[in-house]
Amino acid sequence: MRVLGIETSCDETAVAIVEAPATGGPVGRILANVVYSQLTEHRRFGGVVPEIAARAHLERIDGLVMDALAEARLGLADLDGIAATGGPGLIGGVLVGVMTAKALAFAHDKPFLAINHLEGHALSARLTEDVDFPYLLLLVSGGHCQLLTVRGPDSQGGDFTRLGTTIDDAVGECFDKTAKLLGLGFPGGPAVEAAAKGGNPQRFALPRPMWRKPGCDFSFSGLKTAVRQTVEKLPAQDAQAVADLCASFQRTVGDVLADRCANALSLAPSATLVVAGGVAANVYLRGRLETLAAAHGARLVAPPIRFCTDNGAMIAWAGIERLRLGKTDGLDFRPRPRWPLDPSAAVRV
Ligand code: KG4
Ligand code: ZN
Repeated sequence: MRVLGIETSCDETAVAIVEAPATGGPVGRILANVVYSQLTEHRRFGGVVPEIAARAHLERIDGLVMDALAEARLGLADLDGIAATGGPGLIGGVLVGVMTAKALAFAHDKPFLAINHLEGHALSARLTEDVDFPYLLLLVSGGHCQLLTVRGPDSQGGDFTRLGTTIDDAVGECFDKTAKLLGLGFPGGPAVEAAAKGGNPQRFALPRPMWRKPGCDFSFSGLKTAVRQTVEKLPAQDAQAVADLCASFQRTVGDVLADRCANALSLAPSATLVVAGGVAANVYLRGRLETLAAAHGARLVAPPIRFCTDNGAMIAWAGIERLRLGKTDGLDFRPRPRWPLDPSAAVRV
């Protein structure tokens, strides 16, 4: 089956077409994958402006769908489903993607699939790697930081159990804030990673919230504050100090993520640890998690870097997993600004 996936929940307008057998397990063929990153639209504001994002998605989406079809040398009639991120995310952007997908599905009489964006990240490892259920998932992005057990593809069917989440900020947000404070630009994650390359990771002792505490929850607000206080004391124009602070910050995040994953692997032993979401693109953090997984006799699986940040291929793949279960969504689906992966977790806390 072939599914077209649309992703518009933040600042990437992305469309992809993925092909896979109608039954079976992991690994799909990516027939097309186009991404328009709205970096230039948002850079001068130092962050994503929701209204500008929604407008930019609207301007680009039709062209990107045409580009994806051309890249795959397919017509809409050759598709078996049209998937779009249905939430969570910036609602103006989600609306653009959902309305586009619904219109295409309706006009061409194809099934419409509303995909939870986090489920897209969660299943993305299976798009390119031979990963079977169940696995432990560390989901680290701009808006989320969670540890989950994934038993199957259907988060709404109860396949996901949340072991822990952040009690304040997301880890990607912490990277973005650090970059902003240091004047490294936007988006922050790749900038901090690049600046950390020549830095001394031991120079600054930063707090490690939740480190060595029981359970699998995270906290990053104290680290954010400590970075701000350190930046205020930094000598001006000192590139080495900036590099050292980025390296120290990254090591601290690595310590915290490794510690939380170690607890999760003890509480819910798993042969596979999957890391997904934008922050999973960080090569240093991937290395730390690889070492940690090996120490627990587990294998670390991380999607290729271009499939860590937001993309349409993960939405198309989640659509394939959903279609394989025989599930589709009605054209009355309402886009959701919030949509937890484990609906029972919110009430458990
Ligand atoms: O998954 P994603 O593209 O969008 C959300 O769903 O949030 O994640 C974006 C986040 C941003 O906070 C960005 O700074 C972070 O992922 N990120 C990184 C790296 N690349 C992107 N963080 C650390 N290191 C990176 N190389
Ligand atoms: Zn994302």
